[in-house]
Amino acid sequence: MTQTLTLPRPDDWHLHLRDGAVLRAVLPETARHFARAIIMPNLVPPVVTSGDAAAYRDRILAALPTGMDFTPLMTLYLTEQTDPDDVAHAHASGLITAVKLYPAGATTNSTSGVRDFDKVRAVLDRMAEIGLPLCVHGEVTDAEIDIFDREAVFIDRVLDPLRRATPGLRVIMEHTTTRDGVEYVKANDSGLAATITTHHLIINRNDILAGGIRPHYYCLPVAKREEHRLALREAATSGDPRFFLGTDSAPHTDPNKESACGCAGCFTATNTLSILAETFEQEGALAHLEGFVSRNGPGFYGLPVNSETLTLTRGAPITYPATIDTEDGPITLFDPKMPLHWRVD
Ligand code: DOR
Ligand code: ZN
Repeated sequence: MTQTLTLPRPDDWHLHLRDGAVLRAVLPETARHFARAIIMPNLVPPVVTSGDAAAYRDRILAALPTGMDFTPLMTLYLTEQTDPDDVAHAHASGLITAVKLYPAGATTNSTSGVRDFDKVRAVLDRMAEIGLPLCVHGEVTDAEIDIFDREAVFIDRVLDPLRRATPGLRVIMEHTTTRDGVEYVKANDSGLAATITTHHLIINRNDILAGGIRPHYYCLPVAKREEHRLALREAATSGDPRFFLGTDSAPHTDPNKESACGCAGCFTATNTLSILAETFEQEGALAHLEGFVSRNGPGFYGLPVNSETLTLTRGAPITYPATIDTEDGPITLFDPKMPLHWRVD
């Protein structure tokens, strides 16, 4: 008997679309399956004002192939110069859905991020007042902190004090990679959620480093030890509404990944739903897939669940292309190293 799974159309609560040729190539990969996505603002230069966000939204919509239905949920990149009034205006007009906090230097194109949290206090206070969520890249950047500890240290030194200082602020701990992150979310009742990526459910740090260095598994936050991957799988498949999908699908062309100093990012837009269905099936939790990809995100953001549906069908293993071609060069698709039986109809 054919096994099928019909869900409200999923959303991606953390996505990098880039610009220009890469945007044109990767946007259909997401729009084919996802109704909406939170669009990361770390372009060069970053999306810092409402004017930048409106212009970027228009470029995304212009790149959307005819007949595809997709809504980009725009974000502003928080800097020490961000104007609380501009943020409030962008929120009131429906232009933005969240603001993104990058600690300066934490990851790709984050040099304009925040160094002194006192300088963004007025923006955070205003966001709490108007109910605008903050998406957080949760890693400290101090050179003396080991890269594998940067998320856990961020929770203690930055995230928890920040949330205590701004109690009404709704916070999404993005791409959480540790048991510490999962436990922090579980221990806090309201106003805090976490996104989990597809790739962090599949790989641990051995996949990047053992038996040769594999740049296509390198992303930030970097994948941690196996115990952390298992904690993420438990959280994602548990049905707990505080955890939902943010793929962090982050395209870089192959020459930029396969380099002496390669870029961070796994490109997962194309095969994410097949990988997740396989993963939830392995965990005996297919019934919770709908919450993770279609319901928990809109629940936290206070948005409606999509009314259209998407159907997954289980059958013989399917193959995805190894790369997506762009005018700037090929982009390697994340390889989950397991057969995928669920295809999106
Ligand atoms: O792996 C990552 N890639 N992590 C990030 O935080 C940024 C992203 C990117 O923009 O490439
Ligand atoms: Zn990201």
